[in-house]
Amino acid sequence: MGVFHGVTARNVCELLYSIHGDNFKYIGLDLFHENDENKDEIIPNTKFKNPLKNIYFNYIKRQNPYSIEAVEDLLKKFKNNASLIKGNSNVILKKIDMSKIDYVFLDGGHDYSTVMNDLNSCSEVIQNDGVILCDDYDLSYAPGVKKAIDEFSLKNNLKCQIICNNRFAKIHKN
Ligand SMILES: C[S@@+](CC[C@H](N)C(=O)[O-])C[C@H]1O[C@@H](n2cnc3c(N)ncnc32)[C@H](O)[C@@H]1O
Repeated sequence: MGVFHGVTARNVCELLYSIHGDNFKYIGLDLFHENDENKDEIIPNTKFKNPLKNIYFNYIKRQNPYSIEAVEDLLKKFKNNASLIKGNSNVILKKIDMSKIDYVFLDGGHDYSTVMNDLNSCSEVIQNDGVILCDDYDLSYAPGVKKAIDEFSLKNNLKCQIICNNRFAKIHKN
């Protein structure tokens, strides 16, 4: 969740392919669009500092890298395994069948209410012995992430391991 330009999505698919061959499914969900509804969410700078990247996307690919089309293109090698959804996790997650999902990488909205929604919507994954790995656990400018993770883990009596210098929270059954 939270695909942005798709760099992590591509790396995850490469890793899954190296382990499982063609036998895996990846779903990526993102707004892929800045608007008034999500202006308070933390969306990384969509302008590249590296001028070569600007030239590549503007004149060679002719794509907005923060778009579902550009990320689909980046993942085209995995077109049978990867699917992307454009939308708000606060709406979309409630419609997704979680019963076959065994791993969630949570790096979408960083607002307390969005993180809490995302965790609650994915809680079935943990009940089925899966894992939710949350990025940006301890960001000073996004304190809602930590607050939501701590509350969710405590309330549901889950194990929450903080790893990689406080960057990630790995939530699973006790
Ligand atoms: C920190 S970036 C993700 C970076 C990505 N995981 C990576 O490693 O490259 C956060 C992403 O979450 C998305 N996002 C923010 N709020 C969201 C929401 N409510 N629903 C879906 N996506 C959201 C933003 O559009 C942005 O692309």
